[in-house]
Amino acid sequence: MSVERTLSIIKPDAVSRGLIGEILKRFESAGLKIAAGKLLRLTRERAQSFYAVHKERPFYASLCAYMSSGPIFVSVLEGQGAIMRNREIMGATDPAKAAPGTIRRDCGKDVEQNAVHGSDGPETAATEIAFFFRPDEIFRY
Ligand code: RTP
Ligand code: MG
Repeated sequence: MSVERTLSIIKPDAVSRGLIGEILKRFESAGLKIAAGKLLRLTRERAQSFYAVHKERPFYASLCAYMSSGPIFVSVLEGQGAIMRNREIMGATDPAKAAPGTIRRDCGKDVEQNAVHGSDGPETAATEIAFFFRPDEIFRY
């Protein structure tokens, strides 16, 4: 397995409940290094752009309203197989269906307000990292 980078978002529901530290600790405990990070708030337009792939889905408008409702913590995670490793520790989209011990099971509220986002493949990871970070903002370990 090669060293990969993936984009993580700690979503508004988790930031508002003071879970940034708890979630970053889980990334580090899983062997993922934090190569970049910042707190910011998306405008509705930026959220629509980030989730453009979902624009035909029934939950798109609600998702974009939610993701622009408050601050989010975006980070670049780096490590062996980081993309799938992050998806594993996040758990299934719906916290009620996510495995015990996963971030979404422990920190998510419902299928929309599910605490975290993680890139789903190498191409989306590259696109999503570039959406939030300039190359010089990403630390090289
Ligand atoms: P993510 O992109 O956030 O890592 O989550 P994912 O791959 O597990 O889920 P995806 O299908 O890409 O959906 C993106 C986000 O949309 C919200 N969602 N709401 N109401 C619904 O049925 C529904 N389904 C998905 C969630 O916030 C999900 O993470
Ligand atoms: Mg997704």
